[in-house]
Amino acid sequence: MNFNYLILSYFDKNKRDLPWRHTNDPFHIWLSEIILQQTRVDQGMKFYNNFIHEFDTIFDLANADEQKVLKLWQGLGYYSRARNLHYTAKYISNELNGKFPNNFKDLKKLKGIGDYTAAAIASIVYKEAVPAVDGNMYRVFSRYFNIEEDISSSKAKKIFWQLGLEVIDKNRPGDFNQAIMDLGATVCTPKSPKCEICVLNESCEALRLKKVDQLPVKLKKVKVSNRFLHFIILENNHSISLSKRTGNDVWRNLYTFPKIETETNLLDKGWIFEENLENDLTFISEEKHILSHQNLFIKYWKLNVSLNNIINLSKKIGFEMISIESIDDYPFPKPIEKFINNHYLN
Ligand code: ADE
Repeated sequence: MNFNYLILSYFDKNKRDLPWRHTNDPFHIWLSEIILQQTRVDQGMKFYNNFIHEFDTIFDLANADEQKVLKLWQGLGYYSRARNLHYTAKYISNELNGKFPNNFKDLKKLKGIGDYTAAAIASIVYKEAVPAVDGNMYRVFSRYFNIEEDISSSKAKKIFWQLGLEVIDKNRPGDFNQAIMDLGATVCTPKSPKCEICVLNESCEALRLKKVDQLPVKLKKVKVSNRFLHFIILENNHSISLSKRTGNDVWRNLYTFPKIETETNLLDKGWIFEENLENDLTFISEEKHILSHQNLFIKYWKLNVSLNNIINLSKKIGFEMISIESIDDYPFPKPIEKFINNHYLN
């Protein structure tokens, strides 16, 4: 029996009941695929439901404030996804009269949509036979077909894409792609794969050759850098210092406390020292926050100074004093959200 037949019969019997599988609306499928780019299904589901609840149509999303979109995204991470989602919603609403491009090639022209997401949308919504090449596909295919190419190479992408084009089911391409996603997430997992129950186990080459644990081959390690961030909290009369992140970083347009970045774990420079305020500083807590390419070593400090001093500093450093009562309206990156939840909200 061939790969194609087996994988679809697996899907027909075992497919996960997920909210975006009850619709063929491109807006909903697009939203689900953007959320699932870097997020597990169980975590993404809540965010998907909240978005759908908040925005009935792509026009509602396009007309929303960016702050509201970022707030709904809070906790999911990789915030450029939310900014691109909003940008593309506005583009489709204003330039394309709300009509989604209906093929792989045109979907790929949209901001935030790469090969994988374009293939997922094109195959699921428009039945175009294009393979969704991602980590799940690399794993299932490299094992089943015994492909030893290093999946961090650009050559691998071409090889898997080509093979995907050849084997994808031409009548049910969306189900085929989603079957690979489900099998990869639940059976053909990176660690402890469940080969004994796998629908492919009679014809899987890696299983026959006893090398399931050696595939896929991934040679390149991501380079991780360490950053040392100090967040300074000033308080006055039920308000607290927050600053909107500008600049082109991953937290752009989210809010944090005023920040000082240092070369080591030690707070030994920055405006606190220029202003001779180091004696007014109290250490509160520290944590390590891991992003895909950065380890963030974060310390929180409280700076106890007079209102006049706060006003002068806010002009110099560029933070706002925001009422603690309204703090829940602002979008925060995950560590700041956690800190605020622990210290300011019940
Ligand atoms: N991961 C990415 N897209 C998915 C989908 N449509 N279903 C399940 N998992 C996914």
